[in-house]
Amino acid sequence: MKKIAVFASGSGSNFQAIVDAVKAGTLEADIRLLVCDQESAYVLQRAEKEKITSFCFSPKSFHDKAAFEQEIVKQLKSKDVEFIVLAGYMRLIGPTLLQEYPEAIVNIHPSLLPAFPGIDAIGQAFDAGVKVTGLSIHYVDAGMDTGPIIAQKEIEILENDTRDRLQERIQQAEHIVYPEVLQQLFMKEKSISSH
Ligand code: GRF
Repeated sequence: MKKIAVFASGSGSNFQAIVDAVKAGTLEADIRLLVCDQESAYVLQRAEKEKITSFCFSPKSFHDKAAFEQEIVKQLKSKDVEFIVLAGYMRLIGPTLLQEYPEAIVNIHPSLLPAFPGIDAIGQAFDAGVKVTGLSIHYVDAGMDTGPIIAQKEIEILENDTRDRLQERIQQAEHIVYPEVLQQLFMKEKSISSH
């Protein structure tokens, strides 16, 4: 089973969806660690309730990104983590983590990339007046929401939508699609490595 870590900074509804899929047996993964950069994030309570170990750090107490990423790598190695799932982790991944986990870090972003990268993708799409937006799951590189795209799902913006209603529909879709895509990815890697 793939040994994974989930990185999150906020509410952690995607973290919860991944945990639930593992519990339901639809996602064959072993969640070894939650990594979080916000002491007050609700995702930490979710992890505690689910009895998943978390590593929470304060970026400000480190000299620089390389220093806290080195500490993260140490934590990941101590748990034999093979694959990193970003789920609302609000930081760019630096060279330290990218070198340790080449092609083994994925992210979910609430727009049809390359449209609307960065902060508040849902608000950006809403304000732009597009008729269709959605979500993207992609490999992570050094850029902001730029790595190769693995999967996307379109979500229509309806006539009477509000930003909040749109966010709710995108997040509901994320909770279904992210665990499914992870499962497909892990199964594919398994069949490649057994040949
Ligand atoms: C999600 O919408 C995800 O696409 C984006 O950040 C949000 C995280 O939400 N990267 P949550 O913390 O999983 O509830």
